[in-house]
Amino acid sequence: MRQHRDPAGPASRVRDLWLLTVDERPRLAVALGLSASGAAVALCQPVVVNRIISALADGASVAPGLVWLLVGLMVTGAAITGTGDCVLAVLAERGALRVRRDYLASVLRLPMWWYTRHPVGDLVARSGSDVDTLKYALSSGFVDILGNGVLVVGATIALVVLDPLLTGVVLALVVASAAVVAVASPRIRRAVREAQDGVGRLGAAIQQSVTAMPIVRPYGGTAQAEARAAQAATGAYRAGVRAARMQAVVAPVSAVVAQGSMVALFLIGGWRVARGELTLADLLSFALFLSMLVTPATTVIGAVLGLQQALGSLDRVREVVDVPRAAGTDDDVAAPVRAGAVDLVLDDVGYRYPAATRTALEGVTLSIPAGSRVAVVGASGAGKSTLFALLLGHAVPCCGSIEARLPGEQTPHADLRHLVGYVDQSVHVMPGTVRENVTAGRPDTPDQVVWDALDRVGLRDTVERLPGRLDAEVGEGGAHLSGGERQRVAIARALAGERPVLLLDEPSSGLDQDSECRVLAAVDAVARGVTVVTVAHRRSTIRSADRVLVLAGGRLVADGTPAEVAHALPHDRFALPEV
Ligand SMILES: Nc1ncnc2c1ncn2[C@@H]1O[C@H](COP(=O)(O)OP(=O)(O)OP(=O)(O)O)[C@@H](O)[C@H]1O
Ligand SMILES: [Mg+2]
Repeated sequence: MRQHRDPAGPASRVRDLWLLTVDERPRLAVALGLSASGAAVALCQPVVVNRIISALADGASVAPGLVWLLVGLMVTGAAITGTGDCVLAVLAERGALRVRRDYLASVLRLPMWWYTRHPVGDLVARSGSDVDTLKYALSSGFVDILGNGVLVVGATIALVVLDPLLTGVVLALVVASAAVVAVASPRIRRAVREAQDGVGRLGAAIQQSVTAMPIVRPYGGTAQAEARAAQAATGAYRAGVRAARMQAVVAPVSAVVAQGSMVALFLIGGWRVARGELTLADLLSFALFLSMLVTPATTVIGAVLGLQQALGSLDRVREVVDVPRAAGTDDDVAAPVRAGAVDLVLDDVGYRYPAATRTALEGVTLSIPAGSRVAVVGASGAGKSTLFALLLGHAVPCCGSIEARLPGEQTPHADLRHLVGYVDQSVHVMPGTVRENVTAGRPDTPDQVVWDALDRVGLRDTVERLPGRLDAEVGEGGAHLSGGERQRVAIARALAGERPVLLLDEPSSGLDQDSECRVLAAVDAVARGVTVVTVAHRRSTIRSADRVLVLAGGRLVADGTPAEVAHALPHDRFALPEV
């Protein structure tokens, strides 16, 4: 069952971050150009100031043009900087949007087992705080490195030309600081990754507790839920502090480089000037170029640290984006809605959940002819829902095969997933309106069909009373509807879907007797040729089936008409008085 194993997490490299900017390169170039122009304009200002002061010192009048030039340079510099910042900010947002779109496209198409292994809150956190951390890298990070890298290289060449010995001393300091950054970087990245994992766990803890609130509160479980979330928050805090400490060690390194190079410059340079090996003018030029090296070098160090943080987050995003999409998730809308009646053929089907110690299904062989009314019976945990999960393609059998065949044919006809309408045992509504819930994946379904399906499950009156009627939102998890209404919305969806196979997992467990009769009659009335497989717990449903499958401990222990399998039914449950 290779598909169940979590692959080793991705180890992103800076190149992967750079590749994320592929659509934004022209904007990056503009931002870089603006940053260079801003620097050039800033460099001109001291020259003009120098001219003005020289003129004043000479007692000459200052040409108004020079003053206007200075004002112009300041305004232009500010405008260029502002524009550059804006371009970078937009770039960061565009990059984040692109990453989020890719993430969204993947997170909704993961194999089903993935969702059972990764809490929803963590999946949400990845699209939020992790992508936010990526923003800097996608914009300023590269501009800082590229723009300042050029300055560092240029200033270094000028320094080498002016004085190789002094340059050697300064470069030794820069290399030493780079070594400190190189050693600290992977640790910072690890700590940031752990902090983000902690944020993910916190999101998961909150989401799980809020979802379970209707039972958390009556049992006084709030403090327990809070402690669980607080534990995750503390984990994020500890990792965050570790990352901050590491950065606090690394950041002063650049200050040491700046101060150390100045000290070296004045000690060694002054000594060399005194010995006549260096002119004072060269020493001053050296100092000027040195300042043009140190500040950009500090920025580059900061940017490298920023990229390390981003790499930790990119790993978390890629853990989702790199997962191969589950089969059949890209063509939901194009799926054939009604492909004609089909036989279902299962041959020696088995399944074991990831990390489970025993199989949930084993050696299930059966054939269900098109148009059958089948009841699946078995004690809790017998494997009924698992059988449905395999028929739906939510899980892949670890052995055997499941096929949908045209009646009388021996070869698979179509992907079973597209032929099945389904009512889940516990999840009944999806986010959106009543209409969206009933039409699911077929937005062009006429309202008449929707109302008809609602009518058949006895929901027409309820929906007519809702504000917005078919456009009423069902709320988080269907919170605006009662439990039985949610279940009936799910059945209406299955009926309106007009698929040749209906799988109903305890479709009437939450309904009163009248509603149940109505719903089961509606299911019974669906067109001929439709196969209906129902997980049933009531004798009345079992009795009305053409065929009953009895599961026990994951095995098919009986298969026949209700009378034929009567001996195999779990009597403690089915010997109840008929309702
Ligand atoms: N995601 C899972 N991971 C591990 N084991 C699971 C998972 N889901 C179900 N199981 C186990 O597989 C077995 C079959 O479960 P299944 O949900 O198919 O039972 P069921 O017949 O539908 O029961 P019920 O009538 O209570 O709904 C059970 O032992 C259950 O504990
Ligand atoms: Mg079940």
